Amino acid sequence: MPRRVLDAHPVRALEDWMAAEGGRGVARAWESKPDDLIATISASGLRGRGGAGFPTGTKWATVRANHAADLPSTVVVNGAEGEPGSYKDRSILLANPYRVIEGALIAAAAVGADQVVLALKSSAPDVVARVRQAIEEMGAAGWFQRVAVDVVVGPEHYLYGEETALLEVIDGREPFPRIAPPWRRGLADVGDDTALAARVELAGDDGATEVPPALVNNVETIANVPGIIVNGPAWFREVGTDESPGTLVVTVSGGSARAGVAELPMGITMRDAIDLVGGGARTGKVVGVLPGVSSPIVTAADLDVPLTYEDLARLGSGMGAGALMVIDEDVDPIALAQGVSRFLAVESCGQCRPCKQDGIEIASILERALSSAPAGRDRTELDSRLASITVGARCSLATQHQTVVGSILAAFPGAWERHAEAGAAPATPVQIAEIARIDDDEAVLDAGQATKQPDWSHHDTDSGAAPADRIDQRADAQMGLAAEDAVER
Ligand SMILES: Cc1cc2nc3c(=O)[nH]c(=O)nc-3n(C[C@H](O)[C@H](O)[C@H](O)COP(=O)(O)O)c2cc1C
Ligand code: SF4
Repeated sequence: MPRRVLDAHPVRALEDWMAAEGGRGVARAWESKPDDLIATISASGLRGRGGAGFPTGTKWATVRANHAADLPSTVVVNGAEGEPGSYKDRSILLANPYRVIEGALIAAAAVGADQVVLALKSSAPDVVARVRQAIEEMGAAGWFQRVAVDVVVGPEHYLYGEETALLEVIDGREPFPRIAPPWRRGLADVGDDTALAARVELAGDDGATEVPPALVNNVETIANVPGIIVNGPAWFREVGTDESPGTLVVTVSGGSARAGVAELPMGITMRDAIDLVGGGARTGKVVGVLPGVSSPIVTAADLDVPLTYEDLARLGSGMGAGALMVIDEDVDPIALAQGVSRFLAVESCGQCRPCKQDGIEIASILERALSSAPAGRDRTELDSRLASITVGARCSLATQHQTVVGSILAAFPGAWERHAEAGAAPATPVQIAEIARIDDDEAVLDAGQATKQPDWSHHDTDSGAAPADRIDQRADAQMGLAAEDAVER
C-alpha cells in the first residue's frame, strides 16, 4: 500500500523528518516561481480532501489572483475534523506534523502568504500539543523566517470545520458561516478580535481591495503537497485514476469488526476498503455505508463502487472526508435517519431559519416515529420539511440534511411503513457524533453530542433560540447588514 501522507510510524523529531524527506519540498518552493508551483499542483490533479474534492491548483490560482493591495494572504490548514466517522486528519498530524507544516509553507510561497494558521480543535489536546511542539522545533531550526506559523484552537462545533466559519473563529468570533468565500474575504488580522471585524470589503482581482483572501485547505490535502513538489505530478498520478489521482486516507467505523484509519490507493472498492481497514462487517452483513453525514448513503448493492470522486458522484453520493460509517443489518434505518437528523439539526447555527427550524422538526418527527406508530400526515410533514430546509441556506449543512436523510428514507422504503404498523417495536436510537478517539480498534464517540441542545448549550432544556441569536449577535455584522451598527453594539 502506498504511504504518502500517513506515515507508518510516528515521526517523533524534526531531525527524523529531515533524515527522511523533510525540507526538500520547501527548499524547492523557495527557489521556484509561485506560478510554477501552482502549475505543478494543477498538473498533479490533487483534489481537496476536506469533502468537496475541489481541484487544489485551481483554488491556489484563485487565491493568488485575488490578492489584496496592502495585506498579505494567509494559508489556513483546516484541522477541525468534525465529520462524524472521520479520524484521518488527527491521525496524519499525530504521525507527522512536520509534513503538514512543510506543505503549508509551500502553499504560502505559491499564494504569496506571510502567515500559516493551523486550525485545530480544543477537543483534541494531544494533536494541539504535538503540532505546537513541531512548530517550536521548526522555528528553532529557522524554518519560519519568511512565514509566521501559528496554531488556533477552536470550539467543538461541527460548523467550525466549514471554511468561512473557520475564518470567523480565527478572527476571534463564533463559527457562523459567512456569505463571502475565503478567496473573496480571508482574515483581517490573526489574533485581533476587532480589526476589520465588520468590514464587508471583498478581495478582488484588481489588487485594490483591503481585505486579503485566505487559502483554506484540509490537512490531508496539504500533506500531499511536499511529495508532489519534490517528485512531480507524474509520480503523484502513478496511483489512483485520471480524475482522482493519488491516495485517500479513509476511516472505517460503525458496524465494522474494528475501527481504523489507513491510506489506500484511490480507486480501491468501498468493499475492499472496509474489509482491509475494518475487517468487514461485525455482523457479517453490511446494508449500507454512510460517507460521514455529508453525502447520501451507499447501499449494499453498490459496495463495489471504486473510491473515486467520479464514481461516487455517478452513484449520487460523494467521497466526503473518506469517512466510511458501516451500517449493519442490526441498525434500524429510521433510527439512523433520526441520528443523522438530530446531529445536523443541533449543529445548524440558525442564521438561515429553514435550516434550523425545519431541521429540528425533521429530527422530532423521526424521533416520534421510533417509539409510536407515525401517521400518514407525519410523513407528509417530513417530506415537506425536507423539501424546504435548504431555502436561503448559506452553507451546505442544510443540503446535507436534505440529501442524507432523504437518501436513507429512499434506500429503505419499507422502514417507515414497518414503524407505522400497529404494535411495532420501538427502535434503538443511533448515535451520530464525531469520533473522539480510536482506542484498541474501537471508535469512541464524542459523548457531549448526546446532551448538546439545538441552542448549543448543554442545559437540561433547549432555550429555543438559534445559536446565532443566542451566542453572538455580532454575527450579523458578517452578513453585510447594518455593518456599522453591528460594530457599535
Ligand atoms: C458543515 C461543514 C463542515 C465541514 N467540516 C470540515 C472539516 O472538519 N474539515 C475540513 O477540512 N473541511 C470541512 N468542511 C469543508 C470546508 O468548508 C472546505 O471545503 C475545506 O476545508 C477545503 O479544503 P480542501 O479544498 O483541501 O478540501 C466542512 C464543510 C461544511 C459545509
Ligand atoms: S445553512 Fe444552516 S448551518 Fe449553514 S449558515 Fe445557514 S443556518 Fe447555519
